[in-house]
Amino acid sequence: MLIEMPRHTEIFGSVKIHELQRVLKLDSGGFENPRAKDISFEEIKDVFRHLAIVIPVKDEKIHLLDGVLRAIPFDCSVIVVSNSGRDAPDTYKMEKDVITKLHEFSQQEILIIHQKDPELGFAFYEAGYDHLLDKDGLVRDGKSEGMIIGMMLAKSLGKDFIGFADADNYIPSSVREYVLDYAAGFCMSESPYSMVRLHWRYKPKVVEDKLYFKKWGRVSETTNKYLNLLLSTCTGFETGVVITGNAGEHALTTKLADIMNYSTGYSVEPYHFVYLFDEFGLKTEDIAYPDAVSAGIEIFQIETLNPHIHEEKGEEHINNMLLGSLRTVYHSKLCNDYVRLKVLEELGDILELEKPKKNIIMPPIGGIDTSKFTKMLESNSETFVRFEQGAIVREIEKEQYLKGEAFQIST
Ligand code: GDP
Ligand code: CO
Repeated sequence: MLIEMPRHTEIFGSVKIHELQRVLKLDSGGFENPRAKDISFEEIKDVFRHLAIVIPVKDEKIHLLDGVLRAIPFDCSVIVVSNSGRDAPDTYKMEKDVITKLHEFSQQEILIIHQKDPELGFAFYEAGYDHLLDKDGLVRDGKSEGMIIGMMLAKSLGKDFIGFADADNYIPSSVREYVLDYAAGFCMSESPYSMVRLHWRYKPKVVEDKLYFKKWGRVSETTNKYLNLLLSTCTGFETGVVITGNAGEHALTTKLADIMNYSTGYSVEPYHFVYLFDEFGLKTEDIAYPDAVSAGIEIFQIETLNPHIHEEKGEEHINNMLLGSLRTVYHSKLCNDYVRLKVLEELGDILELEKPKKNIIMPPIGGIDTSKFTKMLESNSETFVRFEQGAIVREIEKEQYLKGEAFQIST
């Protein structure tokens, strides 16, 4: 892959935010130049083997999930965390059937679990991590909550990198590109604490009767504006470096995933920035993560070659997203009166209260005993299934071996 070098990197304490980088060629020929980096497919494949792609899904069209699953490169492991309805027709069962079929054909490693599985809630409880549980001991609704489940399963597989892909994508091959872009980001990273966030080149919309290749959505544009304002008022230098505030499609190293705080629902992505600014932006006396501080935290922002076409979910969803996003800025430790006022003005009528509520924040998952957590799921959970890579092939080989048919040494 040939990818533009970042023109500039904004440094805020230990956080390095690289400016947007465009994908110049998905498949390149090894010719480097000072403005672009060539990353070979071998290097990218090396990352794939250590990468799990988590797909949070809630009642999406089954055709869309099917397309997304089929687009993810074989060497990555796939983790589907579903919060879909279980009443007849049981959408979760449909999702599991699609996965079972796909595994039969492809032999790719795929895991699936249901967010509301009582044993999953219990495993979190037993692990001492009850921050995502409701009063009945079940995991709450929410995309972020689903992502945390996915990250725990990725850790149980011993993965070094975790990426996310939404299930409501209409263009399967764009998902393949996202995974390539993640891997490219990790190939460029110099720190074990890094994150890759994607920016769509276009988000096409039907305007009157034509396709219009729109660059910005309202929520992303506004979220970025306030994240940049927060940064600018802290440093005293105006910046527009943040352009991936709401990037649902992002990936991070497991080392970084282990030390992040997570905000609930859809505010999870903008809060990544707010948390990193709050925790690693300014020098503080008590350093919680000295390794990360000395290695630095790198954020790559990559512009995809493919456009993004996903399910449109209506005005209420957009407003909730905007509210969730701007609340993270409002409640940042670094936010001053001026920024708070600007946020209130921006929210206007969307805000029903006098000031925005705080989002629920979930602490790092790094301290959870992963093997105990997974063992509990393996022995008790009814919805958790792990389809291993090459499992059927190995079963056939075992049978052949027992029959004395295989492993004959040829001379
Ligand atoms: P948008 O694309 O950012 O507007 O948000 P979407 O509504 O498309 O959500 C992103 C992804 O998260 C989709 O694949 C949803 O199906 C999924 N999702 C939404 N809510 C939940 C949830 O409560 N749990 C899980 N596991 N996934 C969810
Ligand atoms: Co979507």
